[in-house]
Amino acid sequence: MSSSRLFVANWKMNLLRPDAQRYSEALGRRIGNGPLEVELVVAPSFTLFDAVRDRAGRWSLAAQDVASESEGAYTGEVSASMLADAGCRYVIVGHSERRRLFAEGDPVLARKLARCREKGLLPIYCVGETEAERTAGLSAAVLTRQVATLADDPEEAPLVLAYEPVWAIGTGKAATPEDCRTACLHLKQLLPRRADLRILYGGSVTPGNASEILTDTGVDGFLIGGAGLDPGSFAAIAGVP
Ligand code: PGA
Repeated sequence: MSSSRLFVANWKMNLLRPDAQRYSEALGRRIGNGPLEVELVVAPSFTLFDAVRDRAGRWSLAAQDVASESEGAYTGEVSASMLADAGCRYVIVGHSERRRLFAEGDPVLARKLARCREKGLLPIYCVGETEAERTAGLSAAVLTRQVATLADDPEEAPLVLAYEPVWAIGTGKAATPEDCRTACLHLKQLLPRRADLRILYGGSVTPGNASEILTDTGVDGFLIGGAGLDPGSFAAIAGVP
């Protein structure tokens, strides 16, 4: 069972090679060589995997997406085998930007999860309600529906869920610790037999609000967008001195 806290910097469609090199150097300096009690993951664009790969093993790589098919005539897609081959360990699946802007629904996400498992990649499966769903009192129902996508995912395999309410992403309006506690409780109740489940929170996380969201809420770490573009903020959120 993985018990260490997990912090994932999702760069989305940002940064170029010189930025990636500076970022990796700065993060490496900040972490140093001492013991590291948390797990750090960086999710750059596919083109920057080699620039961000940490040869000292202090952080690992995540992909922001994966193809739903294994191989073949799917122009523009990147397969799970290609990600594994490129040294990737995690894959973000079902980010709300993929669901909303690229119309990814439950059937395609279930196939992406299956492709990850076939290649030993660890999925970071994102769930979360929109503002309208929250206002309508549907938050729990939305999480229940999105978690149902995991029906065929092996229960004994390690799983990372990211609770990312859509209204909190990139808005500067993070969920409260109480919101997170409620969501974590519900997610754990939906997956009672998962022995190795970590739940991240994502949405406007900063060095200023990180520690209260981690305190007694059931949150095991963060999926970080904007603040993850700066290695200093990323390390501060992760509590790396
Ligand atoms: P944010 O993004 O931290 O910029 O709100 C979070 C995410 O989209 O994962």
